[in-house]
Amino acid sequence: MANELDFRGKQVLVVGGSSGIGNGIAQAFRARGAQVAVCGTRAHAAEYSPEEGSDLAGLSYAQLDVSNAGAIEAFTPSFDRLDILVLAQGAVIYRRGEFEMAGFRKVVEVNLMSLMACATRFHSMLRDARGALIMVSSTAAYHSTMGNPAYNASKTGAVGLTRTLGEAWAEDGIRVNGIAPGLVDTKMTKVTTDNPKRLEGALARIPLRRLGTPADMAGAALFLASPLSSYIIGQTLVVDGGLIL
Ligand SMILES: NC(=O)c1ccc[n+]([C@@H]2O[C@H](COP(=O)([O-])OP(=O)(O)OC[C@H]3O[C@@H](n4cnc5c(N)ncnc54)[C@H](OP(=O)(O)O)[C@@H]3O)[C@@H](O)[C@H]2O)c1
Repeated sequence: MANELDFRGKQVLVVGGSSGIGNGIAQAFRARGAQVAVCGTRAHAAEYSPEEGSDLAGLSYAQLDVSNAGAIEAFTPSFDRLDILVLAQGAVIYRRGEFEMAGFRKVVEVNLMSLMACATRFHSMLRDARGALIMVSSTAAYHSTMGNPAYNASKTGAVGLTRTLGEAWAEDGIRVNGIAPGLVDTKMTKVTTDNPKRLEGALARIPLRRLGTPADMAGAALFLASPLSSYIIGQTLVVDGGLIL
């Protein structure tokens, strides 16, 4: 019987794969035989540490700051074929920084504009491979997040972009889908997880009573990149332990 989760011979790129959810997704593809490249903001792989949720072993690393549209256009990958593109980059600004236009623009640039820029940059390679594109949005797309208007608007936009590129690129043989994580233990959520009171409050709202892990998110990514989801397009899977039920 065919093993649909065998990714040997596949080339994967995870933008935002240097840490957290993207890194967990990258390592899951690598564990199943894929060649995996990841991008992050820092100059060298050695600048990442396991304490920050980074394991770059076996992955090929390149710096790419997606808040710079020119850098995305100019980005030259180390591979000449691309089967699976995962866009896991994301930023948030706390302490009302997203109520300032500079902060709002920065977050929308990273969380939404760069999704379209990366998708179009790699469109022809994905078309050639009849590949899969996976966008990481957030359950924040489905409710208000009072202190973070840019995070919310950009993640809501990402769900719409997933739907629309899913329809538009189906004829190119590219399946576009998304993942909306709930609360996952990464460096982005330290503001909650490092604060015992906040963490307790957050866990009380999650029916599974635990934080999500990058590995939980990777399960959905493997499924969406595999033939097991061959008839699914434009959908964003909520992977949140029941948080928004
Ligand atoms: N953690 C959660 O609870 C949660 C919930 C819902 C959605 N998400 C989404 O999941 C995705 C991954 O987040 P995470 O929780 O895993 O946090 P993380 O560990 O901080 O990962 C964020 C990733 O995005 C990269 N990134 C940020 N700004 C960038 C830029 N300007 N250019 C290129 N890359 C950039 C980071 O690179 P560096 O490592 O170099 O900083 C890192 O690889 C994000 O889209 C986030 O919004 C997270």
